[in-house]
Amino acid sequence: MNSPRIGSDVARAAHLLRAGELVAFPTETVYGLGADATNDAALARLYDVKGRPLSHPVIVHVASAERLDDVAHTPPPYARKLAAAFWPGPLTLIVERRPGAVSDRATGGRSTVGVRVPDHPLARHLLELVGRGVAAPSANRFGRVSPTTAQHVVDDLGDDVALVLDGGECRVGVESTIVDCTDEVPRVLRVGGVTLEALAEVIGAPLAVGGTTAAPGTLPSHYAPHARVRLASADCVAEEAAAVCDAQTRVGVLAMDVPADLDPMVVVLDAPGSVEEFAHTLYARLRDADAAGLEVLFVVPPPAAGLGVAVIDRLERAAHEAAGPA
Ligand code: TXA
Ligand code: MG
Repeated sequence: MNSPRIGSDVARAAHLLRAGELVAFPTETVYGLGADATNDAALARLYDVKGRPLSHPVIVHVASAERLDDVAHTPPPYARKLAAAFWPGPLTLIVERRPGAVSDRATGGRSTVGVRVPDHPLARHLLELVGRGVAAPSANRFGRVSPTTAQHVVDDLGDDVALVLDGGECRVGVESTIVDCTDEVPRVLRVGGVTLEALAEVIGAPLAVGGTTAAPGTLPSHYAPHARVRLASADCVAEEAAAVCDAQTRVGVLAMDVPADLDPMVVVLDAPGSVEEFAHTLYARLRDADAAGLEVLFVVPPPAAGLGVAVIDRLERAAHEAAGPA
């Protein structure tokens, strides 16, 4: 399937962004829905298309670490250290914002701004051509599964986006790690593509995780497919899936090691061969679950180390059944 909205013309994408249009672009984590971070009208449209509450801030993407001071006001030395270690890469830094640098709409009126330099050649080329910050949440409707291909974006947003730059499949597959740099010590607000182990190595001590900041990516229910996601241990998944599966209820399993004794009625989704592949394919598999018409998807999570921590975080949010965003 192809769409007239999918293309590879970076110059055109930059022109559209500068003209106030919405352009989706690839990053190493997930596709972003971009808008000029200095343009109020473009940002209003972005929130509208995304279906996101106005109070929820978006990440501002810049072309290189040298651009940090364009949007940040005196970031602490440890923030510069993190930027030097991980940019370009899947790390977002929350820093005090430089007055007037971006629209209030990009930050939900806060005194802080989330900044990151994505590690994708098309994204960086685009950001260089635009020459200012580009606000970009993940290019999915609020509360749904993030897109990791250009086609996913078109499937979700259709005509609401002027152009989707096609950069292939996103390498990492889960969103950036967000670190709050507004206090004396850094604090992880969202686990993601940069691991807690890698952060601890650069800072010289483990970072605090969690916080009081209300943020859409940290709502208990998020990243949810239509199928109900249930976490299961490798030992029990075959039994639990068999107990739910019947002629009326289509059930699937996603696991790195698929048990040999699965009920033949259970749909087996492509098994990831490593934790990195689990992250890389996670959102595509959640979409596969919906395409296969599954009502319940049992997932055996990877070990809770490295990128596995971010995968487990997204799975727990996908599995959360409280009334979250639709
Ligand atoms: O990997 C990613 O981070 C992707 C790609 C496109 O860069 N973007 C992404 O954006 O995941 P989004 O909008 O889906 O999630 C951004 C998160 C939200 O939880 C938001 O609340 C938080 O970043 N955030 C942004 N600015 C903030 C601020 N000033 N203070 C606290 N949280 C902030
Ligand atoms: Mg998102």
